Amino acid sequence: MVVVYPGSFDPITNGHLDIIERCSKKFDKVVVSILYNPSKKTMFTVEERKEMIKEAVKKFTNVEVDTFSGLLVDYSKAKGISTVIRGLRAVTDFEYEMQMALMNRKLDDELETVFLMSSNQYTFLSSSVVKEVAIFNGDISKLVPKVVNQAIYKKLKGGL
Ligand code: COA
Repeated sequence: MVVVYPGSFDPITNGHLDIIERCSKKFDKVVVSILYNPSKKTMFTVEERKEMIKEAVKKFTNVEVDTFSGLLVDYSKAKGISTVIRGLRAVTDFEYEMQMALMNRKLDDELETVFLMSSNQYTFLSSSVVKEVAIFNGDISKLVPKVVNQAIYKKLKGGL
C-alpha cells in the first residue's frame, strides 16, 4: 500500500521523521508531500524544505519526497493514493485532525486518514518550537536531523 504523509515541514523535525520511519516499515511506499501554502509565512522555501527532507530520509529506500498545492484529495487522487498518514501528538491535535480527516472524506469518500501516535519523546515538538529555540541560540541538535540543524543556523546568520 502507498500512503501520503502531507504537511508544511517548515522544517522537518525528528517527530516527523519518527512517523516517516515507522510508516516506511509498515507500508510499501511513503510519499512525504510538502504543501505550497502562500498564506503561511515560512522560514524555508518549499525547495529548501524538499532538499532537507530528501537528505533526512535518504536511508529509507521506499520514501519519496514531493510537493503539492490545492486540495489534498485532488493531489492524492492524481497520485492514485487513498490513504493519508497524520501524526497525533496530544489531545490538542485531535480536534483539528478530526476536522481535516472528516472534511477530506466528505470531499472524497475513498480517502482514509490513518493516525499514528507520536512517540513519547516527541509529543512536545513542533516546527515553531524548534525555530524559536534556534532563534534564541538554544540547542536543537537532538530535535531535528543534522541537515536541518545546519540550515537553520545558516538561515539565521543570513537574517530571516
Ligand atoms: N512531530 C513533530 N511535529 C509535528 C508532528 C510530529 N509528528 N506532526 C505535526 N507536527 C507539527 C508541525 O511541525 C507543525 O508545527 P507548526 O505549527 O509549529 O509549524 C504543526 O504540527 C502542524 O503542521 P503539519 O503537520 O505540517 O500540518 P499543517 O497543518 O501545516 O498541514 C496539511 C496540514 C498540509 C495536511 C493540510 O493543511 C492540507 O492538506 N492542506 C491542503 C488543503 C486541503 O486539502 N484542505 C482541506 C482539508 S481541511
